[in-house]
Amino acid sequence: MKNIADHFFDIIENSVNAGANEVIVKITYTKSIFFCSISDNGKGIIGQEVLDPFITSRKTRRVGLGLPLLKRTAEDTGGYLKIRRINKKGGTALQFKIDMSHIDAKPFGDLAWTFTDIFFAWPEINLKLFITKEDREELILDFLELRNEIAKGLKNYINIRKHIYEVSQKEFKKIDIR
Ligand SMILES: Nc1ncnc2c1ncn2[C@@H]1O[C@H](COP(=O)(O)OP(=O)(O)OP(=O)(O)O)[C@@H](O)[C@H]1O
Ligand SMILES: [Mg+2]
Repeated sequence: MKNIADHFFDIIENSVNAGANEVIVKITYTKSIFFCSISDNGKGIIGQEVLDPFITSRKTRRVGLGLPLLKRTAEDTGGYLKIRRINKKGGTALQFKIDMSHIDAKPFGDLAWTFTDIFFAWPEINLKLFITKEDREELILDFLELRNEIAKGLKNYINIRKHIYEVSQKEFKKIDIR
């Protein structure tokens, strides 16, 4: 069984596979409702049929499971998953809503570790993580900025690992995600 954090890894992997190098993640969590929107600048999704488990562009296996599983995870709690192409040129935006108070809601898992892993798994992507709290949106992580700090010698990779984990963990705790 996947937890919510695992789904993030899948979503970002899809963006990378679509050639994206910019990914924007926005998370809002209030009164047990987890809402997330993710957009990328990849080649763009073709249509809604990707939510069907038999549509995939992967060559190694005939069935794509990432999105259908996330859809199930969300719908099992009365929520949803929507995905759309941003414009003719491309880009993909997805949004999902999960009611964490629902008896069938999966646990969050360790979201802070997931973002740390994503940073190291795909060094070429510039990801920005925003968290909205009381209607104020705050930039929590900016991978490009972190890489610049490494390049300037201000931080090394071990420090960065700790930094990403601690920063995101602290912010997730503030909005009660742990
Ligand atoms: N961000 C995206 N940009 C463009 N196309 C996408 C994006 N996300 C998903 N897709 C398309 O939707 C299909 C289904 O995605 P899904 O994650 O469900 O399966 P998969 O990635 O093909 O396989 P799996 O996730 O099981 O490894 C992908 O094969 C791809 O064609
Ligand atoms: Mg996938």
